[in-house]
Amino acid sequence: IPTHIYADAKAASLAVAQEIADLIRQKQSEGKPCILGLATGSSPKTVYAELIRMHREEGLSFRNVVSFNLDEYYPMEPNSLQSYWRFMREQLFDHVDIPQGNYHVPDGTLSVDKVAEFSKQYEAQIEAAGGLDFQLLGIGGNGHIGFNEPGSLINSHTRLMMLDNSTRAAAAADFGGLPKTPRKAITMGVSSILNARRVVLLAWGERKAPVIRGAVEGLVTELNPASYLQTHRNALFVIDTAAASELT
Ligand code: F6R
Repeated sequence: IPTHIYADAKAASLAVAQEIADLIRQKQSEGKPCILGLATGSSPKTVYAELIRMHREEGLSFRNVVSFNLDEYYPMEPNSLQSYWRFMREQLFDHVDIPQGNYHVPDGTLSVDKVAEFSKQYEAQIEAAGGLDFQLLGIGGNGHIGFNEPGSLINSHTRLMMLDNSTRAAAAADFGGLPKTPRKAITMGVSSILNARRVVLLAWGERKAPVIRGAVEGLVTELNPASYLQTHRNALFVIDTAAASELT
């Protein structure tokens, strides 16, 4: 997997924001929508902050952007402090001119018998929009992309996923302890991610170094779902020197 290593997360994030901005403008000049797959978590925050700055200072418009987020905890109310819906509004959507209705986050409020139908529709909406032009990813310490935990298959679709203990432990502080942390999430599948025409994965810090090494240099394996990106013809890892420290 092509890997760009930056001295720090800030410089790396600016480069990724620039690529996204260039894509949005290119699609604008063609009179087309720009279909983005977006991630939450700490890794993309500076990318979003830079996109907001470009909107304010450089006139970057999001009017042609249509977005689909990777995942949402289940169950989850959109207005909860920990919801990914709220995260995206606070970190990006409320600060740019993306039309309401153009952005989509999996619905954590559905009754359990409605999730499969919703998941199908979510993928159908992405396809109807023309497919993802660009997918932004973070990576879990266990190799998850979206919430495709280890064991997820390469042909998996959008679905309800049981979260790994390590994933729940990483989120526990946000929820006021492990017992209050959700056990499930709705996530785009591995195949939904691999169908994007461009995939950029971000990783910062030493904690991600072992899993980055596995994903880039190891075998393609369900034990490290990010390794599936080795099979994508246009994927890029953008990482800092700490996350790169175990690459050989
Ligand atoms: C979030 C997501 C997750 C995170 C991953 C890394 O939408 O899909 O896969 O990208 O857990 O999280 P951070 O960036 O907080 O280390």
